Amino acid sequence: MTPRADAGGREAPIPRRPYTRDVDPLQFIRDDWDSLEPYHPVKPLDVLADEIGVPVSQLVKLDANENLYGAHDAVREAIGRADLHIYPDPGQGRLRAAIAEYVGVTAEQVVAGQGADDLIDIILRLVRPAAIIDSVPTFAMYGFLAKINGARVIAIPRSSGFEVDVAATVVAIEANPGAIVFLTSPNNPTGNRVRDEELSELLATGALVVVDEAYIEFSGGTHTRLLDANPNLILLRTFSKWAALAGLRVGYALCHAALAERMMAIKQPYNVNIAAEAAAIAALEHRGEILETVRMLAAERERMTTLLAGFGWLRAHPSEANFVLFDVEGRNAGAVADGLRRQGVLVRYYNRPLLENCIRISAGRPEDTDRLVEALKTLEVS
Ligand SMILES: Cc1ncc(COP(=O)(O)O)c(C=O)c1O
Repeated sequence: MTPRADAGGREAPIPRRPYTRDVDPLQFIRDDWDSLEPYHPVKPLDVLADEIGVPVSQLVKLDANENLYGAHDAVREAIGRADLHIYPDPGQGRLRAAIAEYVGVTAEQVVAGQGADDLIDIILRLVRPAAIIDSVPTFAMYGFLAKINGARVIAIPRSSGFEVDVAATVVAIEANPGAIVFLTSPNNPTGNRVRDEELSELLATGALVVVDEAYIEFSGGTHTRLLDANPNLILLRTFSKWAALAGLRVGYALCHAALAERMMAIKQPYNVNIAAEAAAIAALEHRGEILETVRMLAAERERMTTLLAGFGWLRAHPSEANFVLFDVEGRNAGAVADGLRRQGVLVRYYNRPLLENCIRISAGRPEDTDRLVEALKTLEVS
């Protein structure tokens, strides 16, 4: 793994200081460093605007599946009222109760974290599996954190239509006792859901199955009802997508109370900060209005898909999330993404096995789609 870019996406400079002691600081780090793969996070708005040479206000950010309607006013007010000088509640009492009421489980089945990413890490640290089973292509964080936690990543390619290959996954489970199965529903970047029968078959193996429902508000079809019957099921959710709180980092796990208790015991005590806690609770209190933006984004996803079909060279994969994966036909998808970027429209480009020559575009507001369409037209004539 090469040195990490800093939080702003810039290459972190290696400090040049007049060290007098001749000690190689890298001798202290873990031996498997070179076998770790870096995660490629998205860059913040100001850095992107500087790179592209346009004002932040001109950017159309359709590359990270954020909710471009932004946080609800009541959420901002709740953050303003939060006692920032006081440590947050390590037991997450109010937040767990509010999430439990929203989801329809008990508070003892909820663990909140600094985004769903934190929960993935907590689960890996709690279980310390020798391997995880990843249904690829999918969200890269499972593999990234698994390797950092010393687990091997067994990648099972999805079959046509990006369906989970259940038979191959069962074989992998049997060959790797103790491996955690990670699934995503709807899946990022393909947009399709895990079906009940598929999940039930995998749960029947007795393996620990983590189903990441980061985009479930855009889709419906949650698997929460399977929690009671399956102590080997953990669901992950987040406030990043539907509630427009990606910058504050709040996610949660839903699972058997005994597992939740252990996760609570090993998490960083103050993993959800006080502003994030206040914001998440306010978002749940105002969910009626916020979920209206979710409905608008889902409708915009369909309008965008129809408009882009009109270009004749963008083939959409059906999506139940707030983004759509397109195969780019007869053109170079990287060049398309670059051409859009030069016009301030940011999309995600992929070119790897099972995602050859693809772009993923988040659903935005109608004006964002209109800018996207105009930029694509400009690309066609240039
Ligand atoms: C499937 C999936 N899970 C989790 C996350 C991250 O969630 P959070 O922002 O809560 O860490 C993402 C973000 O893109 C995602 O696509």
